[in-house]
Formats: sequence, structure tokens, C-alpha cells
Amino acid sequence: MTLSDKRILIAVSGGIAAYKIHFLIRQFIKSGAEVQVIMTPDAENFVTKLSFSTLSKKPVYTEFYNENGTWNSHVELALWADAIIMAPCTANTLAKMTHGICDNLVIATYMSAKCPVFVAPAMDLDMYQHPSTQQNLELVEEYGHIIIPAENGELASGLVGQGRMAEPETIFQTVENYFGKPCTKSLEGKTVLITAGPTYEAIDPVRFIGNHSSGKMGYSLAEEAAERGAKVILVSGPSALQSKHENIDLHRVTSAKEMLAKVFEFYEAIDIGIASAAVADYAPKDIAVEKIKKNEDTFSIEMVKNPDILKTMGDQKKHQFLVGFALETQNEEENAKGKLKKKNLDMIVLNSLRDEGAGFKNDTNKIKIFTKTEKKEFSLKSKDDVAKDILDCVETQLLK
Ligand code: PMT
Repeated sequence: MTLSDKRILIAVSGGIAAYKIHFLIRQFIKSGAEVQVIMTPDAENFVTKLSFSTLSKKPVYTEFYNENGTWNSHVELALWADAIIMAPCTANTLAKMTHGICDNLVIATYMSAKCPVFVAPAMDLDMYQHPSTQQNLELVEEYGHIIIPAENGELASGLVGQGRMAEPETIFQTVENYFGKPCTKSLEGKTVLITAGPTYEAIDPVRFIGNHSSGKMGYSLAEEAAERGAKVILVSGPSALQSKHENIDLHRVTSAKEMLAKVFEFYEAIDIGIASAAVADYAPKDIAVEKIKKNEDTFSIEMVKNPDILKTMGDQKKHQFLVGFALETQNEEENAKGKLKKKNLDMIVLNSLRDEGAGFKNDTNKIKIFTKTEKKEFSLKSKDDVAKDILDCVETQLLK
């Protein structure tokens, strides 16, 4: 049990998302943590103390108490906690946190705390975007608290936008990751090859055709696989990122053809291949030896198809477990499933440029994973956490 020695204090304020806290309490209890819930008086308009205390197996407090004849219940609670989770954290509670308006047990406890504080805001989209909320979020981040951003989606008001409290699963995982999952070295003995970043296809000595890939997704996968004990071969197109992990063997390439050649230096010996690179589908037929001069008003480049690296890996697959990515802008699921089949893959990770915060350059991604028989959907997360989800799925499939 991952959090078996941890004391988690959940501070609930008055918002509709309070109903989700039932699931959060269950998850912490299941992971072996001790859970104490406190609420603002307003939270009682949305949820009952009885249901929270039944799940947490402890009394739930909304007021200062003096069970042992003292007045300082807030200090006692704050010092008891290994982590405080402000969820849902309304605009009002957030503002009180940043301005020290200590008019209820939740804020008094929060202000007495020395432990890490996680903040999961929840409110309507305009309240979330309001400069006061955004400034307050920046302030609590400056205090060193960990913000679990609100998600996009349908809100209780009927409007659609960012403001939904992060799912209980996301909040739980953020806390679990903070305290560090026990390191299992679950990929020890495996060799994992990962392609990352863009490819650049030269036009002349100074110009190229490229794309917006930063390499972040692939490098996060490489770090996570290495942390799990795998020997990692990271074949990266041009990227500013570095890797210093002792288990990662980094090979830098420029074009798709170079990436193909590097991948096939190692292909026979790998157990798992993950293709997160954004490989150019076409390259200029000829590369000009000298810099092309701007003599003409129009100018065209004849392009020829690049090798499909992943399809070649799929065609030559023996024992390897192959994971592809699909970066789509329309008919996302259909296209991803088509690539899974066409490239003879075991798994495909779909990210859509229609999802805010997903795809290129961002530090976050939002994915769906497909195998031949299953589909799994994930919320918007950091690329490091997305890498964990992908490798968890790979490990589950390998165990089947
Ligand atoms: O690097 P970041 O900024 O973090 O961004 C991450 C990402 C958006 C690049 C990444 O998450 C992603 O989606 N990578 C795949 C991008 C892509 O090229 O998708 P695709 O649907 O065009 O290709 C399908 C699959 O075939 C991919 O696994 C790709 O690596 C592979 N492919 C494609 C063309 C080609 N010639 N050779 C290939 O191997």
C-alpha cells in the first residue's frame, strides 16, 4: 500500500465538486492512508458530514472543537497532517488563503500547517479566469503549494470551459507521486527503444522542413522507463533537451532516414519500442548544394515520401512489443485504430491537437490508449505523468 504511513487532511469548501471527495477519500483509505476531513460551513450545503465520516472512519469537523478542553483544534489538525488537500478549493477559500482571512476552521488549519499543501481549485469558468483567481493561484504557487489545475469540460452552470475540479484519480496520483511510489524497477532486464522529437529534412545548407515537436513526450518516457530499471535507447531528432540518466543511451539524429538507420542498429535486441517522434512524412527530393537564392517570385520543392520508421518496425516485428503514437486533428479514434492495425502495433497512444494542452511543446498531454481490444482514456496531465500511464499500460499488456 503506497501511502500506508501517511496522514492526509482533506479540507473541503462549498462547491458542487465536493461530491467527488467521497471517491477521493475511498482512494486514500484503500492506499492505506489515514484520512481526516474538515469542511467550511458552506460545504455542508453540498455534502454531509455523515457520508464523509463513514468513508474516512473519523469525525468530520466544520467548527473549532475542544474535545480535550483546549481551543487549538486547528493547530492539532495541522500538525497531525503529512499533507493537506484543499479540494474543492473555491474562489472564496483561495482568496482567504492568500489574504489570511482566518474566519473558519479550514483556513485556520491551513495557516497553521507546516506540511505540503495541494490545491485543487473548482469554480465556474469566468471565476477561474478572473485576474483575482489567477493571481491568487500564482501566489499560492509562490508559497510552495502544489496546484492541481482545474480541468476543461461541462460545468455545473451548464457552461463549458476550465473550472471543473481535477478528477479524484488525478488528485490522488499527484499526492502519491509527491510522496514517491515505491520504486519497483519493474522494467529491469528490458531494453526499451524510444524515438523522440521532430525530424528536419534539409532543403539547402541553411533551410529545412520540420515541425513543432520539442521532444518532451519522448524524453519523459525515456526517463520513466530508465527509472523503472530499463536499459533505454533514446533516438532523438533535434531537441534542446538533455538526458543524464545513467540508463539512457542518447543518440541524436536529424532526418527521418538517419532515424530509421539508428533505430535498426538496435531493433533486433530491443524488447519494447515506443515511437513518439514526429517524423516528417515527406522530404525534399533533392537537397541544394548551395543556399537557394531568392531570384524567382515563386518557388516549389518536389517532395518524396520518407520511410515510415514505425511501419518498418511493425513489418519486421518478432518478439518486440510496439507502441505507436497518433497525432490527429480529426476522426481521431478511427485514424488511431487504423494506424494500430496498419503498422502492426500492440498499442497506440492518441493525442489530439483539438484538446487544449495536448500534443506539441506543452508540458502537458491528454491521451487515449488503444490496444486491439481495449480503450483507456486519461485526463490532462504533465508529460511525466502521461509517461507513467503509458508504461503502466505497457507493463499490464506484457503481463497478459
Ligand atoms: O515532442 P513534444 O513537443 O512533447 O510533442 C509530442 C508529440 C505530439 C510529438 C507526440 O505526443 C506525438 O504525437 N508523436 C507522434 C507524432 C506523429 O508523427 O504522429 P503520426 O500520427 O503522424 O504518426 C504515427 C506514428 O508513426 C508515430 O508513432 C510516428 O512516430 C510514426 N511515424 C510516422 C511517420 C514516419 N515517417 N515514420 C514514423 O515512424
